[in-house]
Amino acid sequence: MIKVAVMGYGTVGSGVVEVLEKNKELIAKKTGHEIFVKYILDLREFPGTPIEHKIVHDFSVIEKDPEIAMVVETMGGLNPAYPFVKASLEAGKHVATSNKALVAAHGTELLRIAAEHKVNFFFEASVGGGIPVIRPLYTSLAGEEIEEITGILNGTTNYILTKMDKTGETFEAALREAQDLGYAERNPEADVEGHDTCRKISILTAIAAGHEVNYEHIYTEGITKITDVDFEYAQAMGTSVKLLGSSRMKNGKVHAFTAPVMIGKDHPLYSVSDAYNGILVKGNMLGTSMFYGSGAGKLPTASAVVADMIEALKNPGHHVEMGWDDQTLTVSDLGGLSFRYFVRLKGLADQRRKEVEEVLGKVEVIELEHKDEFAVLTETMTEDEYREKAKRLSGIRQRIRAELESV
Ligand code: HSE
Repeated sequence: MIKVAVMGYGTVGSGVVEVLEKNKELIAKKTGHEIFVKYILDLREFPGTPIEHKIVHDFSVIEKDPEIAMVVETMGGLNPAYPFVKASLEAGKHVATSNKALVAAHGTELLRIAAEHKVNFFFEASVGGGIPVIRPLYTSLAGEEIEEITGILNGTTNYILTKMDKTGETFEAALREAQDLGYAERNPEADVEGHDTCRKISILTAIAAGHEVNYEHIYTEGITKITDVDFEYAQAMGTSVKLLGSSRMKNGKVHAFTAPVMIGKDHPLYSVSDAYNGILVKGNMLGTSMFYGSGAGKLPTASAVVADMIEALKNPGHHVEMGWDDQTLTVSDLGGLSFRYFVRLKGLADQRRKEVEEVLGKVEVIELEHKDEFAVLTETMTEDEYREKAKRLSGIRQRIRAELESV
């Protein structure tokens, strides 16, 4: 029997305990041992529940118990998750976490400590929830030079954008609905401002490149400025707007960003709707492959944590090489990347088209009835070029990067 501890009995932590219980026999078969949850660290008591007697409030009980071979961290946030995970690894215990903030901020150090103590620090559940993507990048795609990773990596914002697209709701109304359904938190900033997606694409980029990525170097734009009017145009154009996290590796340079992007019906991510996630990986031999599924939620995320537990516990005394080194990757500014641009402008197309084309070059014009504005779609240009040109145009109401060609 192997004894483990779960830190944080919230949605994912309670899911881990449930998966370990429901799939007990098959997990025992795969690891060769029965897994027993000895402790659950939480601030609350849970009286009258089956886990009541496992609850501890003091982390040192877990840290100092030599019987605990593995710790699951599902608390979220950095404090106290970071010091607790660090101390667990230093005490020679494997750690599996679903905490992308922790992995993005301290992954390099925690991976190093895990290697030094011949244990594992695994984090499959930190990106894409239940979708296997981190381990496939290491194993199944080991022979590939990864050229691009682009994904819908946040279920909450994808739900909001899907609602706006399908029902014409405003951002505020769709956000309220996402909150009522429990997708979005009361303080939705991390999701809607793109920070969650930024951390996830930073982790995927570090894995693909094999080097540390500083997530603060990744250009990040959320969805709070996307409006129902943008979706009216998108409908007329047969397109949609999705929040993408993307990193593109070309000629030794890595560009990464998080931003809403207008995509067409041919794009493989177009049909990734509601709270689902989808991740495209382009390899130099493979071409494009797509991972799709539940990017959040109790049992899908818990399933990924349990898979990490099985992998770690199958490898006692052995550190599985899976991570990145401490050489910080230079992430280039978005300025060098090329997009088309969807731009909404004040006034009438008849009166302004010539002036707009003199600045932006050839454009497609999109007009909707009863509006005091129109929209244009530019040809492809770099972000730097667009920024320079846009300074010379008055009355810009919106600008959304567009990638309308299929991948
Ligand atoms: N808030 C995240 C999302 C949870 O909506 O995708 C999963 O990481």
